Amino acid sequence: MPFQTIIEPFRIKTVEPIRFTTRAERAAALQAAHHNLFLLRAEDVIIDLLTDSGTGAMSAAQWGGMMQGDESYAGARSYFRFEAAVRDLTGYRHIIPTHQGRAAERILFSSACARGQVVPNNTHFDTTRANLEALGVAAVDLRCAEATQPSLLAPFKGNIDPAALDRCLADHRGRVPFAMITVTNNSGGGQPVSLANLREASAVCRKHGVPLLLDCCRFAENAWFIKQREPGQAHRTPFEIARDMFACADGCTMSAKKDGLVNIGGFLALNDDELAARCRNQLILTEGFPTYGGLAGYDLEALAIGLKEVLDEDYLRYRIRSVEYLGEKLTAAGVPIVQPTGGHAIYIDAKAMLPHIPQSQYPAWALSLVLYLEGGVRSVEIGSVMFGRQPDGSEKPAPMELVRLAFPRRVYTQSHVDYLAEVLLHVNGLKPRIRGVKIIQAPELLRHFTARLAPVDGSLLAG
Ligand SMILES: Cc1ncc(COP(=O)(O)O)c(C=O)c1O
Repeated sequence: MPFQTIIEPFRIKTVEPIRFTTRAERAAALQAAHHNLFLLRAEDVIIDLLTDSGTGAMSAAQWGGMMQGDESYAGARSYFRFEAAVRDLTGYRHIIPTHQGRAAERILFSSACARGQVVPNNTHFDTTRANLEALGVAAVDLRCAEATQPSLLAPFKGNIDPAALDRCLADHRGRVPFAMITVTNNSGGGQPVSLANLREASAVCRKHGVPLLLDCCRFAENAWFIKQREPGQAHRTPFEIARDMFACADGCTMSAKKDGLVNIGGFLALNDDELAARCRNQLILTEGFPTYGGLAGYDLEALAIGLKEVLDEDYLRYRIRSVEYLGEKLTAAGVPIVQPTGGHAIYIDAKAMLPHIPQSQYPAWALSLVLYLEGGVRSVEIGSVMFGRQPDGSEKPAPMELVRLAFPRRVYTQSHVDYLAEVLLHVNGLKPRIRGVKIIQAPELLRHFTARLAPVDGSLLAG
């Protein structure tokens, strides 16, 4: 093709209006939400980048497929379509539907783990960590050395550290029910994991007789990065690469709200017959019969179609390019972001951008509030509010203070991204005036969802 512009590979058939707000309205909304963006009303947000989870647009084929949903309680046709799509992709023997990713995690962990055990991961996501810790299991992060250097350009900063994994499995022999790898590594900047790293980790786990599971929410984006960046992979399809990724592991947990291209759904897939039987019993107890697992037949239809659409090369090229496009604009203006740009999100390095705010005053949280106040953009803090509270109640600063701008799939166009860049550059100009925040009230677990905060100095912006 002689043309350089990568266009959205879809036409828009249904639209949802965006309600524009004034700065004064947003200031009032922030007060009402106790300075927690999770507590805003979504209609008070102009561009919503809180999460890429469940926020995507489904295709005409998916909506059409939903009309074929078989709502039988047991043995529904839709289940078998879903099961075939997941098995075709992952190759795993047992396919267990759940209503979303954390349900798969909870079912797996409560069936396979016991108090005092240890589960390593490249980086546990917040719900994964919380579900393990709630069972008295230690969630250990073994990210590679490049992962904590935000400005470093490296192709696979999501990798697990194989030597640290080896040590962990040796040190805790008999106490590790399984190891996990998250693809892409969400908490680590949406960075991919290479096939070589997955194979190495798989060999380490096999040596110790420990199963390896993937947290595979963004398997297709990870496969695309492997195709672009890993030697010898460029000629292969994202599907072939994804198959190889799954072949390194013995099972997976999946939040289909990401690369399943659906608004709700998830699954747990396993090779181990005995563990799968225990998980199905748990499923029946809390989610539903094993052929629907908390989902409607029409959800299973949409998911079966989404798992195929997400591996389309035109879609993946546009998806990854949209994120990179915003990253290029920010980098050119000197805004510090995690480099290179990740699959589903831009991560602003708030520690580097706001060095005058100590970690105890949550610089990334403060920055996310100012982005909303100035431009109506909702993002999420991935820093010390999310990860600072330790299981014993003490505080420990998170390794990074990031603001994540997560892109819903197939929702925003290039002009939305241009607006975003304008807002971000405007806020970058305000940075000496941005002030920290403090926690007023918070629950013990997953506090970022419902905590109440306030500016330390009474105002988010000085002067
Ligand atoms: C890496 C990762 N694992 C697990 C989950 C949990 O999935 P869900 O929100 O569907 O429960 C998420 C959600 O954001 C995630 O990003």
